[in-house]
Amino acid sequence: MKKLQTERLFLRPITTHDSVRIEELAGDFDVAKSTLNIPHPYPEGSSIQFIESILSAERNNNIIMFGITEKELNLLIGLINLNLSKSYNRGELAYWVGKQYWGRGYGTEATKALLEYGFNYLNLNKIFAASFTSNPGSWRILEKVGLKYEGTLRQHVARFGQFYDLAYYGLLKEEFDKESSDEGRF
Ligand SMILES: CC(C)(COP(=O)(O)OP(=O)(O)OC[C@H]1O[C@@H](n2cnc3c(N)ncnc32)[C@H](O)[C@@H]1OP(=O)(O)O)[C@@H](O)C(=O)NCCC(=O)NCCS
Repeated sequence: MKKLQTERLFLRPITTHDSVRIEELAGDFDVAKSTLNIPHPYPEGSSIQFIESILSAERNNNIIMFGITEKELNLLIGLINLNLSKSYNRGELAYWVGKQYWGRGYGTEATKALLEYGFNYLNLNKIFAASFTSNPGSWRILEKVGLKYEGTLRQHVARFGQFYDLAYYGLLKEEFDKESSDEGRF
């Protein structure tokens, strides 16, 4: 089964053993509030169903999800995934990192690894992501790993009673391959 490695992280498949840890980290309102699908308050025990639904979607090739773990402590610190569109050979990136681990570059490190996996292993033609414009931590990651800004859909979603603008970012395989080969030259 898939397992990716970066300098400080392992990205590995999630299992039902991760349920308590997922609830502990994703149960923080500051983590949930800028995502579209983490419930708040997080219903106790419900992450088991969440994990099982992900494992089932993975079997159908609709999603690929990794647990982000700190290598040193072997501890789950977040989740990252690609929602897959078979028809368009496209992946939509999404991620969260537990609040006490923010600002250490882990989100960027995990996202870079997933881009490589998506383009080089899954052979996707495009990877894209949407971020609340009010969530710089997220769109900065997308900019840093090379996704290009494609536009903003105004007040496109609502969360906890407030509307949010969504900024879309995307990267094509041809762009990723070019950037990788340019980097390899130096
Ligand atoms: C978004 C999130 C994944 C960022 O994770 P992270 O590990 O802290 O990200 P990084 O440390 O790699 O930082 C990425 C960049 O964003 C910047 N950044 C992070 N948080 C920021 C904030 N609150 N305000 C401004 N910039 C911020 C960092 O400074 C860094 O940019 P820099 O290198 O130019 O300084 C994390 O905040 C999170 O899980 N938030 C809740 C869930 C969420 O919003 N998910 C995304 C949904 S689209």
